Amino acid sequence: MLDLLEAELGSTFHVLDLGSGPGSLSARILRRFPSARVTAVDYDPVLIKVGQGALGSVGGRLDWIEAKLGDRGWRGRLPRKRYDGAVSTTALHWLAVPELSTLYADLGDLVRRGGVVLNGDHLPWGSKARGLARVGSRVRELRSSRPRPGPRSETWRTWWAGARRLPELRSAFEEHDRRFDPRFRLRPPRAKVSLDVHVRELQRAGFRTIATVWQDFENRVVFARR
Ligand SMILES: C[S@@+](CC[C@H](N)C(=O)[O-])C[C@H]1O[C@@H](n2cnc3c(N)ncnc32)[C@H](O)[C@@H]1O
Repeated sequence: MLDLLEAELGSTFHVLDLGSGPGSLSARILRRFPSARVTAVDYDPVLIKVGQGALGSVGGRLDWIEAKLGDRGWRGRLPRKRYDGAVSTTALHWLAVPELSTLYADLGDLVRRGGVVLNGDHLPWGSKARGLARVGSRVRELRSSRPRPGPRSETWRTWWAGARRLPELRSAFEEHDRRFDPRFRLRPPRAKVSLDVHVRELQRAGFRTIATVWQDFENRVVFARR
């Protein structure tokens, strides 16, 4: 993704990181491109607080925006009206089709002509290729059943349990629990939105060159240029 950014935008640009979490992708971009800027957008106050604590503003090159993607009006919180591009990793599968459609329409406006969208995410094949989905999940099972070399890493669950014990995150967790309450919380749609729908919505939003540029079964990076 970073090579593609360089090939398309050079080394001086301002991009959005959509569903940035604590900013792992933003940090990599800012490390590699010392004159780039990133606006990181996420709805989780805990992850934003962790990101702000870990990265700060990287010398004024990183803004943190708390907003719910796909909501009408999220754009109003952004510090600028135009960006050179938007990137995202493992986040947009949280959005159902109507929100995704609103988001892409907004990106059609926010991303300048010639700018790019790069989305690395779980993007399933559509209904025409169910057989491939079955092969993909079988491969995933095989991979996860193999012993991994090296020390055991934290899991999603142990990371969240550890974070919850930190007193400095208590107030952020209170807001997190309100937003992500199990009864009406923000959660990914039951069936992830397929690649075809992403491509269709990008086309509708005015993006022209759209292609999968990296793939491992349903994990893909989709590229689109406006
Ligand atoms: C699996 S994390 C990925 C974080 C980061 N992009 C990364 O690659 O490490 C998914 C992120 O999407 C965020 N998210 C999900 N739905 C969202 C929405 N509607 N608006 C903003 N952020 C959202 C979650 O809060 C979470 O931080």
